[in-house]
Amino acid sequence: SEVPVITLDGPSGVGKGTVSLRLAQQLGWHTLDSGALYRALALAAVRHSISLQDEVALAQLAIYLDVHFKATPALETTQVFLETQEVSAQLRTETCGAMASQLAILPAVRQSLLERQRTFRQLPGLVAEGRDMGTVVFNDALLKIFLTASGEERAQRRYKQLKEKGIDAKLDSLITEIAERDNRDMTRTLAPLQVATDAQVIDTTDLSIEQVVACILQQVSKKI
Ligand code: C5P
Repeated sequence: SEVPVITLDGPSGVGKGTVSLRLAQQLGWHTLDSGALYRALALAAVRHSISLQDEVALAQLAIYLDVHFKATPALETTQVFLETQEVSAQLRTETCGAMASQLAILPAVRQSLLERQRTFRQLPGLVAEGRDMGTVVFNDALLKIFLTASGEERAQRRYKQLKEKGIDAKLDSLITEIAERDNRDMTRTLAPLQVATDAQVIDTTDLSIEQVVACILQQVSKKI
């Protein structure tokens, strides 16, 4: 494809979402929050009373999933609509994240979401964030970034983010839940969270968002 892609992969709470929106804003490119697709599917499954183990039904649901994104760059957020209803806040909860990571194990579900994710690749370019953006979905990406940060730091960031959005959370349970979810994401058989061989790893533990964005933009400028 002629359309350039920057992939951002990494564990939860590492700052992929914020970094991705800022990069896209600076470059004037599109974004794909692939985690939101898995989260929206989990929410839709609950609504339609489909079990998180029912691979066939979930894969079918994934194909017809009525989900839309509306970017509001000025506010650094993307609103998510499921079956015409705004679900952005519901999607952010750790309960929803945990359900998403359960259905993300299922090969047929991942397959159903693959083509949909690739349709986001449109000119002038795409910043795609998730777990397997560089390893699977856009393995021919222009630039692949893998973000890391200590577990403690990531739980703190997620905690702060949830609080700012008015979502109830407890730090100690968040630490355990995030560790559990990361473990599930790293150990699954299909498309586990791992560093692509040609990815640049950035440890963001002691970096500000601005520093991470600047670092990535510098890498981009060497490529285009
Ligand atoms: O990024 P986010 O925390 O919103 O993702 C929620 C869950 O969706 C992840 O924990 C992971 O299990 C799954 N996911 C995935 N592949 C992606 C993005 C998310 O398996 N590309």
